[in-house]
Amino acid sequence: MRFSLSLVAALVGSAAAATNCDGLNQIKKECSSQESFYKRDYFYVGGNYQYNTALSSDIWVNAMYVEKLTGLGGVWRPYPIVLFTAGVPSGAGWLNTPDGRKGWASYFLDNGYQVYIVDQTGMGRGGQNDIASWPLKLATTVKITENAYTAPELINPYPQSQNHTQWPGNGTQGDPAFDALVKSMIPITTNVVLQETTMRAAGCALLNLIGPAFTISHSIGSTYPLLMSDECPTLLKGNINLEPGNIPFQSYVGNSTVPAVGRTTSRPWGLTNTPIGYSPTVTTPSEINTVTVGNDTAALRSCIMQASPIHTLPNVAKVPYVLLTGSASPHITYDHCMVNYLNQAGVSTTWIKLGDVGIKGNAHFMFLEKNNMEIAAVVSKWISSIVGW
Ligand SMILES: *[C@@H]1O[C@H](CO)[C@@H](O)[C@H](O)[C@H]1NC(C)=O
Ligand SMILES: *[C@@H]1O[C@H](CO)[C@@H](O)[C@H](O)[C@H]1NC(C)=O
Ligand SMILES: *[C@@H]1O[C@H](CO)[C@@H](O)[C@H](O)[C@H]1NC(C)=O
Ligand SMILES: *[C@@H]1O[C@H](CO)[C@@H](O)[C@H](O)[C@H]1NC(C)=O
Repeated sequence: MRFSLSLVAALVGSAAAATNCDGLNQIKKECSSQESFYKRDYFYVGGNYQYNTALSSDIWVNAMYVEKLTGLGGVWRPYPIVLFTAGVPSGAGWLNTPDGRKGWASYFLDNGYQVYIVDQTGMGRGGQNDIASWPLKLATTVKITENAYTAPELINPYPQSQNHTQWPGNGTQGDPAFDALVKSMIPITTNVVLQETTMRAAGCALLNLIGPAFTISHSIGSTYPLLMSDECPTLLKGNINLEPGNIPFQSYVGNSTVPAVGRTTSRPWGLTNTPIGYSPTVTTPSEINTVTVGNDTAALRSCIMQASPIHTLPNVAKVPYVLLTGSASPHITYDHCMVNYLNQAGVSTTWIKLGDVGIKGNAHFMFLEKNNMEIAAVVSKWISSIVGW
């Protein structure tokens, strides 16, 4: 428990109890934030004017929201970090954690990086006025969040779930950290094709403005840096993925015994819903032959791989790719599918299983969990290994 010993409390007098600054209470004016000091600018990038017939006027469409955080301690790393949310929640999820601890944006500010946070096109502050093109749907429910993200151990959908220990609470309704997380969750768009196309363009427009950068993405947000590495590979110094959600040809959440979740066909282009630069060239997804590999068990899922002829991803392969997986996350049962698919496509991939580097007990929202700073340090070390800092 943290208590502020502010001037206000002192003036109120010794009889007044110290203010409880736990969790959401930390927004009280008497409580001091755990975040780093920074300056913030925001801007929108990408998109274009488009004539709207119904409104008889041009409107701006397909822009992405970005905020630039500059630490007051200074920027001494030559390459910035760009943070991509899954969209559930918005980019705000990179700031403080749901229980009021320091978030990843502050970690990288403290370590001398210029930090940019994105809300992708079509959601959050990237919401679009061309509403007909950007329909929304519910992103998740309390059940999915509990079962797949914050408390999988309670329903045991895969054996590794029993080792989940890092959520800062019991991970179900009524837990203040859980309640804060679900309150922050926002709708997602159903137009994934338009979202991928516009993010490919707006993402590279951002990197053209700010120069080469490291990207860090979570879950389905990992689709966008992958597309950017295809579009503008020289502008990505490294592509860091926390449990990427763009698993080849499939979406997985828990297993089929879990209500409302399971395994579905997805991403006809393998890692994307939209065309990506394969060699030999692929003009329609049916040109990619696939085969299911491995026995499908709750502890280790089967994967969909390419069958001959193998198409590689030469542009994606130009950018160092790292993937981090929590030891107790649903992803520990299927992230090998991502690693194997990328390697098969000629993208040499580093897979950091956090359990193997002594970081135990994490599930899917690892960057918000109790040991989030330890995991950020793993990312920082990987960046050093790429650029030699
Ligand atoms: C789902 O998980 C449970 C518990 O780990 C397991 O017994 C069951 O076999 C799994 N079902 C499938 C289809 O993998
Ligand atoms: C749970 O963690 C223990 C200790 O690290 C390990 O020995 C065990 O294999 C883990 N269980 C599963 C199912 O991953
Ligand atoms: C989690 O904690 C909350 C708040 O204390 C409580 O209401 C809820 O019953 C707990 N859930 C479980 C599964 O223990
Ligand atoms: C799949 O299971 C079968 C039967 O248990 C076994 O013979 C085979 O080696 C397994 N394959 C893999 C890739 O684990």
